[in-house]
Amino acid sequence: QVGEPSQLKALDKFENAADTDYADRAKRDRIQSALKSVRQQFGQTYLPLINGEFVETAEKLKSENPSRFSETVGTIGLISVDQAEDAIASAKAAFPAWKRTSAQERAHILRKAANLFEQRREELIAWMTYEVGKPVKEGDGEVSEAIDFCNYYADEMERLDRGVDYDFPGETNHYRYHARGIVLVISPWNFPLAIPVGMTVAALVTGNCALLKPAETSSVIAAKIAEILVEAGIPAGVFQFIPGKGHTVGAHLVKHPDVHMIVFTGSQAVGCQIYKDAAVLQPGQKHLKRVVAEMGGKNAVIIDESADLDQAVQGVVQSAFGYSGQKCSACSKAIVLEPVYETFLSRLVEATRSLNIGEAELPGTKVGPVIDKEAQNRIQKFIEWGERAGTLVLKMPVPEGGYFVGPTIITDVSADAKIVQEEIFGPVLAVMRASSFQEALDLANGTPYALTGGLYSRTPSHIEQAQADFEVGNLYINRGITGAIVARQPFGGFKLSGVGSKAGGVDYLLQFLEPRVVTENV
Ligand code: NAD
Ligand code: ALA
Repeated sequence: QVGEPSQLKALDKFENAADTDYADRAKRDRIQSALKSVRQQFGQTYLPLINGEFVETAEKLKSENPSRFSETVGTIGLISVDQAEDAIASAKAAFPAWKRTSAQERAHILRKAANLFEQRREELIAWMTYEVGKPVKEGDGEVSEAIDFCNYYADEMERLDRGVDYDFPGETNHYRYHARGIVLVISPWNFPLAIPVGMTVAALVTGNCALLKPAETSSVIAAKIAEILVEAGIPAGVFQFIPGKGHTVGAHLVKHPDVHMIVFTGSQAVGCQIYKDAAVLQPGQKHLKRVVAEMGGKNAVIIDESADLDQAVQGVVQSAFGYSGQKCSACSKAIVLEPVYETFLSRLVEATRSLNIGEAELPGTKVGPVIDKEAQNRIQKFIEWGERAGTLVLKMPVPEGGYFVGPTIITDVSADAKIVQEEIFGPVLAVMRASSFQEALDLANGTPYALTGGLYSRTPSHIEQAQADFEVGNLYINRGITGAIVARQPFGGFKLSGVGSKAGGVDYLLQFLEPRVVTENV
């Protein structure tokens, strides 16, 4: 009997976690009391978790509230290189038993973690609001995404675990997936919950041991992830929480001969460095490392002459200035066809002007702070470069006491200007004119990035051409370009935006697995 490769067919349907409906008064009250209660927990110390034990560290880092930098949200213990070695040794010891734990059992732990994330939804949103300045509604979506990653990868692992039987008369051929070993997870601060959760649980459910090294600026939230994974039942040594400096401990672990895989999300510069360092075979290393690197974007939205401009203005405002433009998916270039350029620009400026800038915890805030002083300075530099290279059409006043940068719109910049080419990672939008649809596409594609892109159009030929020629991993037509949903818009880019298959998609777990075929003559 010849086996059916369709044993591996995609899941029929996946039910995503629902975001909170804040029109409901009781839900608004719940988040307000979570914000109060979390504020009362400021100032605690969070230690790394190595082999199931919280360990003291010589070095500590204070994590501050970017909305009010006088406030310390928490203090983080940063591991040393010696402690990183302890974590590797514990992961090596834990791996044989974990890889033999059934896929169902591992999936069960992920589903339990998903329930715990749901139970602690408001508290987790509050930590994100305070530690990384994320407005409540954005944090709410992120909790849903973390829950989805757990449930979806649990389902996916059970699907993959069935393998494929290519049996033949007189011979069985079993194609099965096996864990790779130790996975180093390196995460960014801008999606401090969903991204580390997604990368970590993907490593764990596939039978690997995971070491989570979060971004320094979002380590308190990462400590909450660690609490939840432990409570859900991940054994000691299988998951370890190792906050530490990227360029010291992170770089050391990337080069470590016992690490099998690095799953990274962050900037292009660091991703490329990791890719290079991981490629070097270290003494004693008996495998090649796999690197999944999700990096930055320089994302464009094209608005053509047939677009619904109300829809386009709203979509661009949300995509460019939501979470202060600090999303890899954010829009940083609006490319507008000549006939609608002036109308679009004046409506865009008015819509942007109406955004409330303020502390992330305040209910009316649409644009909160940027992550830290360094980011604020970097973004302001880009604005100065933009002002010199083009015309500043909107700059908004900002409150004191936090790292605020007002939404900024710049026009009349050339295709090779710094603000058109480089990822700014802040609320700065360049609006560019195009005289033809082809020119608009060329401007959109004219960077080394290929992450997200958008088109507002009611012209079928333009929609068709964009589908074929817009060089992005996620193309959105007639909607905003942020907020991909697990198992609906699997997310990730190519060119210098990343290497690896899409998070929340059907190929993602395969990266963490080694396929093997066993043939038996019967
Ligand atoms: P970053 O590259 O500065 O840091 C990311 C992580 O890498 C942190 O944990 C940091 O400590 C660690 N690190 C730094 N140097 C290292 C080294 N030499 N070796 C090992 N680890 C090292 O990025 P960030 O500022 O935290 O995040 C913002 C960036 O992330 C933006 O460029 C954004 O576009 C990108 N991002 C991409 C995606 C995506 O899915 N493509 C999603 C979110 C963020
Ligand atoms: N997945 C995130 C988004 O789509 C980055 O906005």
